[in-house]
Amino acid sequence: MAQARFVGAIDQGTTSTRFMVFDHSGSEVVRHQLEHTQILPRAGWVEHNPIEIWERTSAVVQTALAKARLGAHDLAAVGITNQRETTIVWDRRTGRPLSSAIVWQDTRTDAIAAALERDGRGDVIRHRAGLPPATYFSGGKLQWILENVPGAREAAERGDALFGTPDTWVLWNLTGGPDGGVHVTDVTNASRTMLMDLETLDWDDELLGFFGVPRAMLPQIRESSATTPYGLTRANGPFGGEVPITGILGDQQAATVGQVCFAPGEAKNTYGTGNFMLLNTGTEIVRSTSGLLTTPAYQLGDQPCVYALEGSIAVTGSAVQWLRDQLGIISGAAESEALARQVDDNGGVYFVPAFSGLFAPHWRSDARGAIVGLSRYNTNAHVARATLEAICYQSRDVIEAMAADSGVALEVLKVDGGVTLNGLCMQIQADVLGVPVSRPVVPETTALGAAYAAGLSVGYWHDTDELRQNWREDTRWEPQWDEERRAAGYAQWHKAVQRTLGWVE
Ligand code: G3P
Repeated sequence: MAQARFVGAIDQGTTSTRFMVFDHSGSEVVRHQLEHTQILPRAGWVEHNPIEIWERTSAVVQTALAKARLGAHDLAAVGITNQRETTIVWDRRTGRPLSSAIVWQDTRTDAIAAALERDGRGDVIRHRAGLPPATYFSGGKLQWILENVPGAREAAERGDALFGTPDTWVLWNLTGGPDGGVHVTDVTNASRTMLMDLETLDWDDELLGFFGVPRAMLPQIRESSATTPYGLTRANGPFGGEVPITGILGDQQAATVGQVCFAPGEAKNTYGTGNFMLLNTGTEIVRSTSGLLTTPAYQLGDQPCVYALEGSIAVTGSAVQWLRDQLGIISGAAESEALARQVDDNGGVYFVPAFSGLFAPHWRSDARGAIVGLSRYNTNAHVARATLEAICYQSRDVIEAMAADSGVALEVLKVDGGVTLNGLCMQIQADVLGVPVSRPVVPETTALGAAYAAGLSVGYWHDTDELRQNWREDTRWEPQWDEERRAAGYAQWHKAVQRTLGWVE
């Protein structure tokens, strides 16, 4: 039978879900995208409705395929990529979630995270899982559900309750749900739980014990580009036929693959709800002394796992959404650029959007956001500019940590993600860093990376060298600030960050 023409990728993100189809050159054939509700029941809590996520996933697949008049037979394979760490528990018999999904940004587990630090378990987690104990990761969220949702622990112990990050939830539903759904995740997603040993790439009994998690509720951990398909899409599901699902990667690892960062020393920075920079460190596990995470970057087929150092920033693009939704000073994300362009500089204003505490390199869950340096002279335009600068300064903090850990100074920053369409923000990024910023022709590298993982598995693409041929630069921003302005701005940024620490008791 002839090879199908395309590969599909589902990208289940924090604010929206999209389905994209790519051709052999890595070019987009079609896409459809839908937002889902952000449930904010109280300060620090962020939830999603898993049923809504599954319905949106079905809808984007069906609509995209219909738009391009494609069917299941046109797809050689499908990959899944996803917001990581977001925690879902559901009943395997009914498919009903036991609670809302607890989103990665949610800080309700700060007491759980703090307790881990007090009795030495934090160091075990740091070493074995590569993560600092923090509200960010799934382990504490799962513990919270087991302890607070009536009946959850009993259901988990009976083997009726299943845990998954959104990749697993989507895969289980695509492959049949209560009727034979496949319960699998990949190494990149499993590594974000604080429950997986980075060396064995398996769940670790001691770590499970820290959080009181029964092994029976956990998915099987598989490679990111499957040696054999994880499963087939159900013919009566959104694809309308059986397509092998052969790639799973957490979204930031998918972007690393989409940006073809396959050699040690290659890095990318993705600008989405948050910012996530990953530096490929090869098959070596590099442990950070500068506040970065150690994480699998990908595991392709039966090849060894490739690792990365990661700098995760919780709030970047979502700070722009906050200007729109909470402050109402812009009507759409794109307007942040026009508003910020009304001024030549920040007018002394610095905005540290520590809404979920501060992630890398600080890891301070006691931080909360602050806008400092205000005088009566300042306008909305300065706040908009300070918001874009915050995205760039937070990235600089992470890049400084990368340089300290790896000894490698960055020569050019490869970027992707929605915020990279904001030309002013990318110019500020080059100015703040003092190195050029480069965006590829296909900025949807997250979905592309999941498609690559899926396509490699079925021989649609042969190897990573073939994928490299697809990468082309679209735009490059050169630094324009002089050293003095760069140093002064960064020093002020640091002062502003200090103001946010220790705000929550
Ligand atoms: O770790 C969280 C990250 O995976 C979320 O990414 O793009 O959905 O904000 P994004």
